[in-house]
This record gives sequence, structure tokens and C-alpha cells, in this order.
Amino acid sequence: MSAKTKVAILISGRGSNMRTLIQAAKQEDYPAEIIGVFSNRADAAGLEFAQSENIQTAVISQKDFDSRESFCEALDAQLEAWGAELLAHAGYMRIHADGFAQKWTGKMLNIHPSLLPSFKGLHPQQQALDAGVKIAGATVHEVTPELDAGPPVLQAAVPVLDSDNAESLSARILKVEHQIYPLALKQFIEKRTNGDSETADQTNLIWPN
Ligand code: GAR
Repeated sequence: MSAKTKVAILISGRGSNMRTLIQAAKQEDYPAEIIGVFSNRADAAGLEFAQSENIQTAVISQKDFDSRESFCEALDAQLEAWGAELLAHAGYMRIHADGFAQKWTGKMLNIHPSLLPSFKGLHPQQQALDAGVKIAGATVHEVTPELDAGPPVLQAAVPVLDSDNAESLSARILKVEHQIYPLALKQFIEKRTNGDSETADQTNLIWPN
């Protein structure tokens, strides 16, 4: 197998999606190596898990900077110091400065708990309930300068039940997030490495178990 792609994960909180990527990357034939976990919040619970897995972590708070641009320059310097080739956003709740986003476009994935392009931005599960949709889900997509608008890589759908509230729907969606993110990262890397021709068909998941 060719050398593994060096992936940094960006988090702001719990880090359950981060965990699934770290676990997946332990497999010998997985094409990514997780080389660092970055958080903009020192209290992000996910940091502890990353450290327990001997993955280096870094925390830089936007509060220490007077502009989005200067914060993103510090973030970029950290990612370059780690030698990151790809960025996986996993519950990272900061919008990037344009310069940063442009530099890393084509090398960034994010997971969002809706079937994009529906329900961008904050509280997408509540947005889905408010809209009365009967199917919700999760999307792994490329990150581009426009929020939640980059091309989808993989999606999974779940039913919305009449009895759902934001909590129960979020929990159902989170389960499929954990299934698709490791798959999407793998497919994204394989496509970058081999081009379309040698890439297996996408495995989109509908009502996964
Ligand atoms: C996940 O549901 C993720 O899709 C969402 O935040 C949660 C983070 O959970 N991300 C966004 O809403 C990004 N716009 P986690 O920290 O346990 O992975």
C-alpha cells in the first residue's frame, strides 16, 4: 500500500466522530494516519481521548486573536507544523477565514447532521423537525469557503418519527454519522490517490443498521 495520508482532525467538543476516525485509522489497510487533533476550545472532551491514544493535540483559542484571519493563520501554522495533508472537521464549530479556506479547499472534509443542501448552519436537526421532513440524515462533504456548501462525498438517511424531538433525532443521525465518516474519508483519499477510474463505487447508506 502507498504511504498513508496525514490527516489532522479539528474538533470543538465531544469528539465522537473524531473517535470513529481514530479507530478506523488503526486498521492496517486504512489509507489515513491521524497525525494530530486540533481544538479551538480547551474544554473539548475529545482532546482527552486523542491524548489517551497518543495522538498529539493542540488548542488555540480564537479569544486570543483580534481577527478571524489572525486566528486562522495560527491554526494554519500548527497544521503545517504537523505536516497535515488533509483536514477532517468533526464537530468543529468555527467558520474559517477566506484565505485559510481557499488554501485548504480540496483537502478538507466536514460532517454535518443533515442531508445537505437542506438545513445548513446551526441546529440542523431542529430545522428538519420544524420543516416537517420525513427523512433526515448526515452528509460528509468537502469544505469550501461557502458554509456547508461543498460537494457531498457520502450521505446517509434516517427516518424522522412523529415522536422525535431534537435529541432523539440527533441521536439517530449521530449513529449513521459514525458509519459514514470513516468510509467517506477512505473513499476521498482513494479518489485523490488513484483518480476516479480505480475507485470503487460509492457506498451510500440508506437506513443503515
Ligand atoms: C455532530 O453531530 C456533527 O455532525 C455536528 O456536530 C456534532 C459533533 O459531535 N457538526 C455540525 O453541526 C457542523 N456544522 P461529535 O463532537 O460527537 O462528533
